[in-house]
Amino acid sequence: MELILVMVTSLDGRTTRGTESDNHTWTSPEDQKHFMDIIENAKLIIMGNRTYEPAKENMKHREGRLRVIITRTPEKYDNEKISGQLEFTNESPTDLIKRLESQGFNEGYLVGGANTNTEFFKQKLVTEFWQTLEPKILGTGNGIVGDASAGSAQDEEINVSLELKTCEKLNDKGTLLLKYKVLQ
Ligand SMILES: NC(=O)c1ccc[n+]([C@@H]2O[C@H](COP(=O)([O-])OP(=O)(O)OC[C@H]3O[C@@H](n4cnc5c(N)ncnc54)[C@H](OP(=O)(O)O)[C@@H]3O)[C@@H](O)[C@H]2O)c1
Repeated sequence: MELILVMVTSLDGRTTRGTESDNHTWTSPEDQKHFMDIIENAKLIIMGNRTYEPAKENMKHREGRLRVIITRTPEKYDNEKISGQLEFTNESPTDLIKRLESQGFNEGYLVGGANTNTEFFKQKLVTEFWQTLEPKILGTGNGIVGDASAGSAQDEEINVSLELKTCEKLNDKGTLLLKYKVLQ
């Protein structure tokens, strides 16, 4: 499966402002459009539960697009799931990707957050990383991987090399869209 991680960060590598739920008020309209274009056209989107929860009220579901939410307690979401469109799972990332491949998916987008990305990187499942780099310095907040509340311990098993494929300037102030291939 081609699994593309899509994230927006500040120049200092932050993906959130502080520790609060984040509504991306610091990201540019051009990045928001880039992200919405991906979501509109995707057949498969995977995310962690702490990314899903604050965003779920604004999510639209439709046939032909499956969102998979990773949580330790999928049974809590029995009332929210929508067959073929929204599912909740506690499968390991490797088992999840194998199952989705057997269902015919050959491309998907992983959209965070840092805790979930960490698991997918550790299990060597991410094949591309599309990073929007906003010309901002935020000072505090999560990174692309790890858990800000747990120090850097989670990052120790991660050492990923990537190769830049393309670099696109999205606006006059210099928001950059960097597309990397993950070298396994
Ligand atoms: N800048 C960006 O591009 C971007 C992108 C995405 C998210 N974000 C931000 O990042 C924040 C969320 O990131 P986060 O790192 O705190 O959380 P997260 O990765 O979105 O979600 C973490 C949750 O996912 C579940 N989970 C993760 N790994 C699991 C595993 N191996 N097995 C079972 N369940 C697992 C757990 O859910 P349960 O607690 O339910 O068990 C865990 O609490 C939000 O503020 C969001 O807005 C930013």
